[in-house]
Amino acid sequence: MRLHVADHPLVDHKLTALRDERTDSPTFRRLADELVTLLAYEATRDVRTEPTSITTPVCPTVGVRLSSPKPLVVPILRAGLGMLDGMVRLLPTAEVGFLGMIRDEETLQATTYATRLPDDLSGRQCYVLDPMLATGGTLAAAVQFLFDRGADDVTAICLLAAPEGIARMRETFGADAPVTVVTGALDERLDERGYIVPGLGDAGDRLYGVV
Ligand code: URA
Repeated sequence: MRLHVADHPLVDHKLTALRDERTDSPTFRRLADELVTLLAYEATRDVRTEPTSITTPVCPTVGVRLSSPKPLVVPILRAGLGMLDGMVRLLPTAEVGFLGMIRDEETLQATTYATRLPDDLSGRQCYVLDPMLATGGTLAAAVQFLFDRGADDVTAICLLAAPEGIARMRETFGADAPVTVVTGALDERLDERGYIVPGLGDAGDRLYGVV
């Protein structure tokens, strides 16, 4: 598993505003959207392309276009939905699948409650959107789900990650697996409730309110 922690002043600036408890939901949604677009730029560094011939107003030339099958973007419901628009803005031709996962707040175990994904993901590059990599249980289960359907390369984009979650991903997938985690920041630790410290609280609640 590869880890990429964004090291950019604009990411840090937007994350600071996102973390601030005074930031209201509309502003939080806008900032999350902007951050994802910045992180997606890094996350898609190895997106597969193929040569394509075009003619400019000056002469014929060869450029690139995204390869087929097109990448699949998979937001993990519900908080991952807040990252979807920012991602597809950068990859407008990607297909989108959905994975509904919830973690039990006592056991911190993840369970799948909804899926809307192609049955066969052979040869697909997948981009999983999950704002908070905390214990890593949800993300590890989501990535395994995609591998079980044949995906051969998975990149997870997270706004924040905890060292415990990164360790869990490394234990689950090993050093050589085609899994990459791209995060805006690597925070200090988890607290006793499984929240990232300093973190930003419950990402779903801050995006959509407490429901
Ligand atoms: N999920 C969240 O929304 N926030 C955390 O800090 C951890 C998991």
